[in-house]
Amino acid sequence: MRAKATVIAPANIAFIKYWGTADWERTLPFNPSLSMTLRECVTRTTVEVLSREENDSVSLMTGEGSLEPAAEAFTRRVVPHLERLREWSGEEVSFRVATENSFPMGAGMASSASGFAALTLAVVAALGKQVSSEEASVLARLSGSGSAARSVEGGYVKWPAGEGNEGEHAVQVATADHWDLRDVVAVLQEQAKDVSSREGHERAPSSPYFEPRQRLLPDRLETVTQAILTRDFAALAHTVEEEAIDLHLIAMSSHPPIFYWRPGTLEVLAAIRRLRQEGAEVCATMDAGANVHMICTPESEAVVAEEIGAISEVSSLIHDGVGRGPMIVDEHLI
Ligand code: PMV
Repeated sequence: MRAKATVIAPANIAFIKYWGTADWERTLPFNPSLSMTLRECVTRTTVEVLSREENDSVSLMTGEGSLEPAAEAFTRRVVPHLERLREWSGEEVSFRVATENSFPMGAGMASSASGFAALTLAVVAALGKQVSSEEASVLARLSGSGSAARSVEGGYVKWPAGEGNEGEHAVQVATADHWDLRDVVAVLQEQAKDVSSREGHERAPSSPYFEPRQRLLPDRLETVTQAILTRDFAALAHTVEEEAIDLHLIAMSSHPPIFYWRPGTLEVLAAIRRLRQEGAEVCATMDAGANVHMICTPESEAVVAEEIGAISEVSSLIHDGVGRGPMIVDEHLI
């Protein structure tokens, strides 16, 4: 029997955003980031090890539930990572990859984070290799999707920036059990965004607001870390929203500018501010897309879903929460 492994890896939602790449060769960021690992938004990937005479192949589960060869743009991102992992392992093999997402791809919902974390861990497992979580984080990061470095861990996860080993891999700040936060995603756009996050990282330093944000980040990182450790929602909410606005401020003022928001994004943001004034524990954050992640406590989840779900631009809600990280499973896709 050929060696095969399947991994389910989670997406994550950044509280402190990675925005701007300092080193493309090694996918190293200008700034540290911190995220909550999700539970429901996941990628399942099966990797089968083939002999070297065969070609690498990539298939993707369609909305209709059948596996089809992936589009060229998708394969073009996956195959170089397979190449990298092949080199790392020293094995003369090829891979058959099949992958499925539980949520819309490419719409600013970290599908590349869960995708490359799942791919990396499934290749490692299919080859029968053991790696530490630090090494898994480094390998996932080298895919080119830096946020994948954070998706190999559960709970609340920091990816430090800087010289030396520190910036190489993500570390867990607190476990999933430490704080039961929810993420209700207001889906405003299901199709892939027009400008990739890679493009956004490249353009970010051209914004006049890029440098000022760098100076604010050490304090923000400290505030968010302490808010998580002490479960202080008010402190968390303030900084998380500031960070989300700043990412988009930088995107909109980059050369050329990038507008990820839709009119519905502003409507949702206003409704969240109103809900907070009325006492709900909720704040908003957006990655590189129009969809709004509403971070809230379990007590506030129902009111958030009811109020935001009633906004006409919101096509659906995804109820998610903090997850425990990737798992190896037996249910293979191929
Ligand atoms: O990992 P990438 O290259 O897809 O970039 C992720 C960028 C953001 O999602 C906007 C922020 C983050 O830290 O996840």
